[in-house]
Amino acid sequence: MIISLIAAVAKNGVIGKANGEMPWHVKEEFRHFKETTYGFPIIMGRKTFETLGKPLKGRLNIIITRNKNYKVDYDEVLIFDSLERSIQYCKENNFEKIFVIGGGEIYSKAIDLVDEMIISKMKFDAEGEIKFPEFNESDWNIEKIKHEELFDVFVYRRKNEK
Ligand SMILES: NC(=O)c1ccc[n+]([C@@H]2O[C@H](COP(=O)([O-])OP(=O)(O)OC[C@H]3O[C@@H](n4cnc5c(N)ncnc54)[C@H](OP(=O)(O)O)[C@@H]3O)[C@@H](O)[C@H]2O)c1
Repeated sequence: MIISLIAAVAKNGVIGKANGEMPWHVKEEFRHFKETTYGFPIIMGRKTFETLGKPLKGRLNIIITRNKNYKVDYDEVLIFDSLERSIQYCKENNFEKIFVIGGGEIYSKAIDLVDEMIISKMKFDAEGEIKFPEFNESDWNIEKIKHEELFDVFVYRRKNEK
């Protein structure tokens, strides 16, 4: 199973605002996110899920929270109390690929666990308190770069894949 991370990161490292809002709305980037993740499980922090407000269609939505009593009004959503346990569940259920979709706290936890990162590097700075974690570029090979008008998509693959 390939464990992938997908994120959109402004030039100054910002990925979102503390109140949950996304600082930008770039339709082509949302389309890229949807096309890439469609059909695969998506794993997200509780705050990101609450920002979305409802599950994303066509994908198994998995929420990570420390709150053992956390409930949502949607049957098709799974809730785990750790990222590791959610990944274990996906392995046991033979998914070919899964995506960690944020936000900041979950990316920080996931960055050492993922095989691949698909990062849209936005061509502008953004205002916000939540940033993508620092990572060591030398641990990764850049497999592909796709250029779009407002962003470039970098596909990173971990060297010496686990
Ligand atoms: N640009 C992008 O690509 C992108 C993608 C996604 C999100 N975002 C942005 O990111 C921001 C949200 O990020 P965030 O860092 O504030 O929150 P987050 O990572 O979405 O969620 C944090 C929550 O996840 C749970 N959690 C985190 N680590 C855990 C662990 N080790 N074990 C169990 N549960 C854990 C906790 O939930 P409980 O408090 O319930 O215990 C924690 O409060 C928003 O602004 C959103 O718009 C941006």
